Amino acid sequence: MSMRVVDSIPAIRALVSEARKTGSTIGLVPTMGALHAGHRRLVEVARGECGFVVVTIFVNPTQFNQASDFEKYPRTLEADLAVCAEAGADVIFAPSAHEMYPGPQYTTVEVSTLGEHLCGKFRPGHFRGVATVVSKLLNIAQADRAYFGEKDAQQLAIIQRMVADLDMAVRIVPVPTVREADGLAMSSRNVRLSAEERAAAPAVYRALQMVAVELTAGRTNVEEAKQAALAMLAAVRPQPKVEYLDIVDMVTLAPLAHVDREALIAIAVWMGDVRLIDNLRYAAARA
Ligand code: PAJ
Repeated sequence: MSMRVVDSIPAIRALVSEARKTGSTIGLVPTMGALHAGHRRLVEVARGECGFVVVTIFVNPTQFNQASDFEKYPRTLEADLAVCAEAGADVIFAPSAHEMYPGPQYTTVEVSTLGEHLCGKFRPGHFRGVATVVSKLLNIAQADRAYFGEKDAQQLAIIQRMVADLDMAVRIVPVPTVREADGLAMSSRNVRLSAEERAAAPAVYRALQMVAVELTAGRTNVEEAKQAALAMLAAVRPQPKVEYLDIVDMVTLAPLAHVDREALIAIAVWMGDVRLIDNLRYAAARA
């Protein structure tokens, strides 16, 4: 069956309910388009586990902090459709902003405290926008399973908590981060890096690995564990501006002062006017 592309809520609902009648498991992959190999992996994993795979492509205005970031966000629908077809999607839901937000939206979803750490400190309201649009997409698609990348670890933790707290009948499936050969996490924003910035960008992942090495070596005080990585980043040219380099609890995302359990090492940097994020899970050795 060839891939369908729809832009209305009634149309996607009709296709999903038809698929459900035939007994198919419904898989949902929410994206903002500008698809790369990371997104493709999500679709492939969904394809392997579900009878009917829906990919949504919607650049959600309510999760952007700056109008300029929203406007500059790459939009490549034709190429995205080709990626989805190759990866085996059944239907693409690519609504307009008006379809998703026809009038003022009085109801929002806020996952308290989890959204205040890490990126939340620097992007007020961002995760409210994400949790609200993901709720809407889950309600629209009535998915059994929904796929999210570990690349956006805070987003993933927030969605998992939202689904648990609100008893949503969907299973959230995490997918490991897909990286370029030099370690840079794939991101739709990478295309906005200059050649020099792109060459320097793998330092972001190296910094995470350096923190993990320090922790493994027994330097479990967070400030001490970060020193070598911060010094390395300070010597990189063009210099990445570190927004945060934090080590947080895997579940609450609250910063740790001392790492004695499974933790998330997370970083955000600015390379010019491009914001890059990455993270690494650290499993503390048992004493
Ligand atoms: P977007 O940035 O397009 O990402 C869509 C999905 O792809 C997210 O689950 C993200 O974690 C995953 N992804 C991105 N880069 C990845 C990589 N290198 N490896 C593995 N997975 C990767 O995240 C969003 O869109 C939006 O916030 C959205 C959830 C769609 C809500 O608007």
